[in-house]
Amino acid sequence: MSLYTGYLAIHKFEAELEKEFEIKGLTVAVKKDRLYLVEGTHGPMIWAQVTAFNLREIPITSIKDGAKKLRALGRNWGLFTVGHHRRAQLIQEELPEYNRKPIPFRNPLPTSPMGFWTLLEADKILAATETSSPFALGELTFQEDKTTPPSRAYLKLWEFFTVYAPEAITGGTSIDVGSCPGGWTWVLRTLDFDKIISVDKAPIEQRILDLGRIDFRQESAFGLDPANFDEIDWFCSDIICYPERLRTLVKKFLASGKVRNFVCTIKYQAETDWAETLKFLEIPGSEIVHLHHNKHEVTWFLKGAPR
Ligand SMILES: C[S@@+](CC[C@H](N)C(=O)[O-])C[C@H]1O[C@@H](n2cnc3c(N)ncnc32)[C@H](O)[C@@H]1O
Repeated sequence: MSLYTGYLAIHKFEAELEKEFEIKGLTVAVKKDRLYLVEGTHGPMIWAQVTAFNLREIPITSIKDGAKKLRALGRNWGLFTVGHHRRAQLIQEELPEYNRKPIPFRNPLPTSPMGFWTLLEADKILAATETSSPFALGELTFQEDKTTPPSRAYLKLWEFFTVYAPEAITGGTSIDVGSCPGGWTWVLRTLDFDKIISVDKAPIEQRILDLGRIDFRQESAFGLDPANFDEIDWFCSDIICYPERLRTLVKKFLASGKVRNFVCTIKYQAETDWAETLKFLEIPGSEIVHLHHNKHEVTWFLKGAPR
């Protein structure tokens, strides 16, 4: 029996995932709705909202038999239906409940594994006990703050500092470029940085500035000279610009040896700029993810850059 790696494409970004398969030389054996199956074991993909490792087929004789077989393998199961929707839901209802509640910012991640399953045929389950996310189908939702942050962009940085950089922050300096109206600057202000340098051609909201410890500079980020800065713990960018311009800026700060960590949104125009995306990935030690809160953009990050 063959084992598959299952990739659930992000809604509306199926074409991006298909292109990524092509770039990585992977052949899709089966496609059902947004679910792509590749034979063998492979790593996660930027444009998959969740990756299911070692998916295996499980024959079942009834709803109860399906639920029993899944329960025997694991406790938590995220269901994605590709057909037989009602029957799949009835099986899911026989499985233990898991916590679906939105989480607070920087909440420790769930430690129990989250499985993935689908009902391929009425009498055939496809299931994996191991997935790329502790959240069902990779869907992470927060207990949002609907009043303080001036834009919803803050959710991207919340997700990043909850999932990819949960380490404690104890002082130091962060810089937020492309910061208007101030969502990311607000997030950095709620972390324990001693100083937040916030840069945009347009002003950020006064009530965010009034929180203190924020050094706002109204100018173009592309004119910044690393020579004029002391050490920076986190360089954060949510600038709307061509990916190539962002990469030039990042490389300038990286070359200065003054920045320890980077997190930057790579924003695309109508088309996904794969050539530039791959150039970002060539920067040693860096990673690219599509956050649950990213739209037609991805998040590039680098932790522990050489000084
Ligand atoms: C998506 S918004 C940033 C939202 C922000 N992260 C937040 O949480 O509120 C993108 C910003 O990039 C800024 N921007 C574009 N070109 C810039 C440049 N050359 N220098 C600085 N900021 C720039 C725009 O003014 C805009 O405010």
